[in-house]
Amino acid sequence: MNPTTRTVARPLGVLAALPEELGDLIATMRAESGVKTVTHGRRDYHVGTVHGAPCVVTLARIGKVAAAATTSALIHAFDVDAVVFTGVAGGVGPHVRIGDIVVGETLLQHDLDASPLFPRFEVPLLGMARFSADLRLAAQLAAACERFVAEEGAALAAHFGTALPQVHRGLVISGDQFVASASAVEALRATLPDALAVEMEGAAIAQVCHEYEVPCAIVRTVSDTADDHAPTSFASFLTEIAGTYSTGILRRFLEARAEEPAA
Ligand code: ADE
Repeated sequence: MNPTTRTVARPLGVLAALPEELGDLIATMRAESGVKTVTHGRRDYHVGTVHGAPCVVTLARIGKVAAAATTSALIHAFDVDAVVFTGVAGGVGPHVRIGDIVVGETLLQHDLDASPLFPRFEVPLLGMARFSADLRLAAQLAAACERFVAEEGAALAAHFGTALPQVHRGLVISGDQFVASASAVEALRATLPDALAVEMEGAAIAQVCHEYEVPCAIVRTVSDTADDHAPTSFASFLTEIAGTYSTGILRRFLEARAEEPAA
């Protein structure tokens, strides 16, 4: 088919690790369109339209393997044209505070170490440690975050008793560990001084998307600072406010996407 004559837009894949991280997305999709739910590889994929944009929405569950398997299914079973991950992360960068938002422009697996056979962090035989998000998609996501902060940030600042949340862009690091001690987060800062946030899925998604040449972008709200307080901070952030962030960011991002001419 000549791509210039295509009228049906391929869907966007939207995933998170935990239900709270998807906000109201599935409920809004149900209210807006006839949702078809397909179970594949023990996950439910919700296919429909949300905020005017065709999407496939799913929960990956936690960790790099779960994220990689889900991303692969989004690409191969659902033919998504791009992948967006939304969720929470631990703040690592010195200026990154709880309630801030981090858009991943580069992603790296901080627990990958096949040295001395290969350099630390490098994916063996792929010859890469850092994977790039799609910079256009990341910029669109960051713009949605900025609009969200401009319109809802004051209420969030009141919630945290802090200044307005900041939107950061840069390196997000991923590993199959919940980082929850001052010594562990210090070790990450020492080894990867440009890391802004730590989480458990993003770099796996970015690697799979790189391998299949599918654009991806990752947005993370900072639920904790990966120190000894992280478990309690993470748990309360997740139940109280993570959904407000995802709902507000994704609505603005998807509305803007729905306005774009079909590729
Ligand atoms: N996601 C949210 N907080 C995290 C942390 N401290 N470590 C890993 N993943 C996280």
